[in-house]
Amino acid sequence: MAEDLKIAKGTKAAIYQSLIPQIKALLDGEPDLIANLANVAAALKEQFGWLWVGFYLVKQDELVLGPFQGPVACTRIKKGRGVCGAAWQNAATLIVPDVEKFPGHIACSSLSRSEIVVPLIKNNEVFGVLDVDSELLDQFDETDKKYLEEIVKPLSPPAGGELS
Ligand code: SME
Repeated sequence: MAEDLKIAKGTKAAIYQSLIPQIKALLDGEPDLIANLANVAAALKEQFGWLWVGFYLVKQDELVLGPFQGPVACTRIKKGRGVCGAAWQNAATLIVPDVEKFPGHIACSSLSRSEIVVPLIKNNEVFGVLDVDSELLDQFDETDKKYLEEIVKPLSPPAGGELS
């Protein structure tokens, strides 16, 4: 059983440096993807208090809503659509400082103002994305990109491919 999360204060980098070993400890030895996604979403939400933190998983040819923390959200996103679908298509992290200026942004919550989406990649294939939304403009930068990419790196799809 995990202990309570230790909430850090300080610079963004210092906060991530405190959080990452705790997330690694939560994931250590647990092969179940959904359990791990649920704990990563909860840990990020608890530490940063962002509006929405969650995952979409590639199933057939769509992203389907997975474990998340925050308001209810759209369940399916097609490849190339919205910020999530674009990050999937490009297999690259996307930082959106102002969602109203991103062509095709999908507004799951009218409160969201800025967003970062980080693809989950295994064997050169995107199997999902981490999506984080903030109610404030311009909340995500290269520091978030670097550490969120590190956080999702240990996540793997199920060996048997039962995602789809
Ligand atoms: N805004 C996202 C959709 C997902 S919600 O923000 C949770 C997008 O444009 O892909």
